Amino acid sequence: MTWQGKARKRTFKNVKDFWEKSGKTKPTDPRITIRDSYFRLLEIEEIRKIIKGKGRVLDIGCGNGFSTFQYARDVDYISGGDYSKNLIKGAKALLRKSSVRNIEFKVADVLNLPFEKEEFDVVIGERLLINLPDWELQKKAIREISRVLKKGGLYICVEVTKQGHEKVDYYRQMFGLNILEKYWHNLYLDESAYIPFINKYFDISEIKRFGMYQFLTKVMHPLVVMPREPKFISRFNKVAMDIGKKITNFDDCSHQVMFVLRRR
Ligand SMILES: C[S@@+](CC[C@H](N)C(=O)[O-])C[C@H]1O[C@@H](n2cnc3c(N)ncnc32)[C@H](O)[C@@H]1O
Repeated sequence: MTWQGKARKRTFKNVKDFWEKSGKTKPTDPRITIRDSYFRLLEIEEIRKIIKGKGRVLDIGCGNGFSTFQYARDVDYISGGDYSKNLIKGAKALLRKSSVRNIEFKVADVLNLPFEKEEFDVVIGERLLINLPDWELQKKAIREISRVLKKGGLYICVEVTKQGHEKVDYYRQMFGLNILEKYWHNLYLDESAYIPFINKYFDISEIKRFGMYQFLTKVMHPLVVMPREPKFISRFNKVAMDIGKKITNFDDCSHQVMFVLRRR
């Protein structure tokens, strides 16, 4: 049993039930869709740099809209869509309490988006595809996202990949840590299939990994957990030295990857 409850078979229905239940328990809790809040803040900062000044944006798989509210500050209009009725209910409750006027939330399944062809300048999907139980459905979602994007529009896709996980696990094991927990409801993207497929619909404008943050939080932090003033002669510095001897490049040590894709 883990934080995501008892493991179940990864089917579309079971994964959707999982999100509905999460949304029912804590509809407006920003941490209900991710526990690593600092990672999401880092990612939001990167995404805000890309979307600044854009017109119509879709945040699909928006959960209860924590990121959507941040993006609304930079764009003319943003639609937040999620297939979980409970999470959208939470997002709408937060919207009612706010003074933001350029957001709309609606129940929307990425496999059949309730939007017109070429309606958006940008589509954002953060940890969305990994919640689809097989590669065929993941491909269907990508095609659907491409359909609602204007030509030249951007798909900002932040997903957990199999290769990213393997790299983080490689570094964890190098220092005697267990491999990361894998979640039953997620199918991590296989970059060797994803990248050739994406090339049919998009030009890859950027691939950004978050290696430094992931390395420090997934490798360094478990090794040294001491909330006190740093000392030069300390275990922290000793570990940093041991790591520094073995690794100079952190960029690929990240299970989360951001692909910025321009629609053809
Ligand atoms: C890991 S959460 C991420 C939420 C949000 N993007 C964030 O970063 O906090 C994944 C979200 O995708 C939604 N989701 C999963 N499959 C979906 C689908 N087929 N269509 C729309 N939303 C979906 C879930 O309900 C959940 O809110």
